[in-house]
Parts: sequence; C-alpha cells; structure tokens
Amino acid sequence: MKTTAARTLHLSGMDVFVYADSAAASLAAAEHIARTIEHVRLSRGTCVLGLATGSTPTQVYAHLVERYRGGALSFQGVSTYNLDEYYPIAANDTLSYHAYMYEHLFRHIDLLPARAHVLDGTIPEPFVAEHCAQFERFIEAEGGLDLQLLGIGRNGHIGFNEPIDLPVERARGLRTRMVELHPTTRADAAREFGSVERVIPRALTMGVGTILDARSIVMLATGAAKAEAVARALAGPPTMQTPASLLALAPQKTTWYLDEAAAREVV
Ligand code: F6R
Repeated sequence: MKTTAARTLHLSGMDVFVYADSAAASLAAAEHIARTIEHVRLSRGTCVLGLATGSTPTQVYAHLVERYRGGALSFQGVSTYNLDEYYPIAANDTLSYHAYMYEHLFRHIDLLPARAHVLDGTIPEPFVAEHCAQFERFIEAEGGLDLQLLGIGRNGHIGFNEPIDLPVERARGLRTRMVELHPTTRADAAREFGSVERVIPRALTMGVGTILDARSIVMLATGAAKAEAVARALAGPPTMQTPASLLALAPQKTTWYLDEAAAREVV
C-alpha cells in the first residue's frame, strides 16, 4: 500500500510529498521505511536503519509497531543507529534518547537488542572522540546506512548539526562528534526538561557527512513551527546556516514528507 500525497513538488532536485495532515505524512514515511526494510533485506539479508527521536517520528514508530504486530513486518536482520543522544545522560534517564527509543520502538518489536545502537551518553569525556569514531566504524562495517530518518529543528538543524558558519565542503565532511546545542534547540527542549536552564547543553550527534552517506534519506517535517525552516532548507542553495539545506547535496536519494502546515511557506 502507498499513501497518496495531496501534492508532489520537486525542489532543489529533491522529491517533496505534501500531505493534508501529520498523520498522513507520518504514515507515508512509515511506508517508505517498511518498503526499504523489505526490499533491502530481500537482496542482502540485512538492513541498516538510521533513526531519529523527538516529537515528529512518534507516529512513524507507532505505524511500524502496528505493522510488526499485524505480522506484516519483521525487524529480524535489521540493525539500527540513532542520530544522537544528549551528553552526559544515563540510558535509564527518562529524558535520554535511549529511553525514547525503547519506549516508542525497541520494546515492541523483534529487533535484537545487540543490533540497536544509540550513542552512549555515559562515556567519560576523554573517550568520547573514540566512541564516536567507533560508531562510524560500526556503520561502515555493516556496509553503511540503507536509510536515514530525519526530523528538522526550527533552526534547520539535522541530528544535532546546528547552524554554524562553515563552508559547505567542510560541513559535508562532518562526522559523529560532540556538539553544543543551539539556543533555539535548547528552548525547544525546555518542553521535556521543564525549563531552558535544565536542558543538557551538549550532545553526541552523527555528522552531516554520516547522514549524507546513507543510501536513502527520509525527512519528515510536520506542523507550522517547522514551516520557515522547511522553506529555507528547500529554497537552497546549501548552507550550513540551515543544515537541512545540505540534503540538496544528495538530491536523488532524499525524500521529504511534509504536512500542509509545514509546507505552507514553501514556494
Ligand atoms: C532527533 C534529532 C533532531 C530532531 C529535531 C526535530 O533525533 O536529531 O534533529 O529531529 O530537533 O525535533 P521534533 O521532532 O521534536 O520537533
């Protein structure tokens, strides 16, 4: 089954599907992921997924869980790598992305725990660089990411690759590393943490390069709060001032799923 978009656009070389609401856009993104798992596993016996957290993909995970429960989808042979994690944070902290993934996906499906990789927010700081490099090596050893699921920040971030003054060629080379969160990101995370002051100001994140090396990229953006960032990212040209605009460097493999609210400033 394939959910039909209300509108289809082609912007900066990328396919952009626009749906009436977030439920339909999320369902379409979930169908894209399920198709990738089925096709890739059929040809290679395995499938390597890059996953995202946040409020946007919760409906996607609910659909994937529903498919698994209905017997239409299995995660056997699948490996997952999450985009990011706060630093420092314990895996059993309810605000961690470990906890989020367990709650929304991992505990419901037949994914082998050893194949679910989330960056470790408890690694002592002197070992963080090596931990991040190892995360990259794990992905490489599995043959790279077949699909990376993304959300977009209000400031245009992807993963926790925040807007910075950096030439595109150098941004393209960014790999998994420790970063400082942007004030907008901290303001948005205040929802979960209770106040801006309580937001953990640093995180570990896959790099722009790690993301762009995936064989396919699914960007899901819903809600009016994302409209401006979405419009900036799709208007181009690629700039690290709007990190999501760098997806235009990999136009053939990137698909945007939007609802009308998120698409309303797209021209
Ligand atoms: C999450 C991530 C972030 C979010 C983005 C949108 O793993 O990497 O880039 O995708 O901040 O967050 P929500 O969906 O909460 O608006």
